[in-house]
Amino acid sequence: MDICVVGAGYVGLTTSAVLAELGHRVTCVDQNKEKTDLLNQGGIPIYEEGLSSLVKENTQKKRLFFSDQVMIHLSRHPIILIAVGTPPNENGSTNLTFVKNVVQLIAKSMHGHKTIVIKSTVPPGTNEWIIRTLINQGVDRQLFDVVSNPEFLKEGTAVADSLHPHRIVIGAENKQAADRVRSLFKNIDAPVIHTSLTGAELIKYASNAFLAAKISFINEISRICDVYGADIKDVQKGLAADPRINPYFLNAGLGYGGSCFPKDLSALIYSAESKSLDPVLLKAVTQVNETQIDIYLHKLIQHIPEPRNKQITVWGLTFKPDTDDLRDSQSIKLIRQLLQIGCSVHTYDPMADLNSAEVTGHRELYASVRQSDVLIIATEWHQFLEADLEKVKKNMRGNLLLDCRNVLDPARAKKHGFHYVGVGRS
Ligand code: UDX
Repeated sequence: MDICVVGAGYVGLTTSAVLAELGHRVTCVDQNKEKTDLLNQGGIPIYEEGLSSLVKENTQKKRLFFSDQVMIHLSRHPIILIAVGTPPNENGSTNLTFVKNVVQLIAKSMHGHKTIVIKSTVPPGTNEWIIRTLINQGVDRQLFDVVSNPEFLKEGTAVADSLHPHRIVIGAENKQAADRVRSLFKNIDAPVIHTSLTGAELIKYASNAFLAAKISFINEISRICDVYGADIKDVQKGLAADPRINPYFLNAGLGYGGSCFPKDLSALIYSAESKSLDPVLLKAVTQVNETQIDIYLHKLIQHIPEPRNKQITVWGLTFKPDTDDLRDSQSIKLIRQLLQIGCSVHTYDPMADLNSAEVTGHRELYASVRQSDVLIIATEWHQFLEADLEKVKKNMRGNLLLDCRNVLDPARAKKHGFHYVGVGRS
């Protein structure tokens, strides 16, 4: 099939490459010419395992194209996937400017029937709003279908998640449109969930809110473990053994970050409140996450009562391992607070730099801890797990190790002379 994907971000780029891999002819458009030029020259704007080679292969096979000529391609292709960003507004609501712009362009470029598939995460009611807007712009109702097909990929495993999804959600008004979108993914073996447009929108938000709730739940339990001297790892194991709970998203730590969970939680809270509901549970999930950093800052101050001018090394800047994405990273928020209390901050991350005059970034793991009083592990990169603790300790001035992701074995750290403080296992 001939498909136009709008947006060359994480979702748009991965979806384009995967659809091309499935045998479709895909043109990925983005108004950012720098981005499309880079892609046309064989470069890739983000780090994502396996994506670069998938893009390269499909570009060479002439199944995948990139262009900044959005309008031309919107008018040319019968199937349009909208995968543009939906960032948060100050008040927690969703900024739909990019989606609205694309819808306006589609209204102006209607030649023949179009199936408009919304991949972007949009608040409940947005797909219905798109239909109303196109009709109000004078577009013949017979000339288009709108289908909601949310994306569940995770950064770091985006390609694998897209090729082997746990489910395909299709929200559509009629069976023909739903079948047309199902046939895009016909080589993918996954259960298909057919629903209304708004049902599909809510499945996406509810999924992310549920996963975020699991994280805040385990983080709250880790606080209780701390005060009673229990080990969260034991509690986690006991919980995970119950198949009704399962082991996923039960790692206690600094809290969740990234471009999805914080913004989607805020958007869902906003959507509920705008209909006069009080989503107390969702608000509590957010509140636990927002206060999780304070707990570890407090622990630091308990051990180093005068943190001013102390040299602190933070390992891990990205919001999670295996990505170069710094968006809404808990590590960055922690660093900001460390700077506020006067610490001298040094950082190391395998994939990302902070580019800030206030912190000293290092390109080498062991050099980053030289003369440090404290080492904080903020993101659980595999490299940290395998670090030579003997060497780390020798390079440091102090011995406090705040393992904010519980990646190290406390006994091993103690053996090398560290004062180990973990999450819910101090
Ligand atoms: C998430 C959803 O998983 C994905 O389905 C959706 O499409 C987009 O949002 P992503 O943001 O890429 O994906 O990352 P994810 O792996 O879900 O992690 C989110 C955050 O939760 C990270 O900051 C991670 O460190 C944190 N996390 C995750 C925990 O703190 N504990 C856990 O047990 C799991």
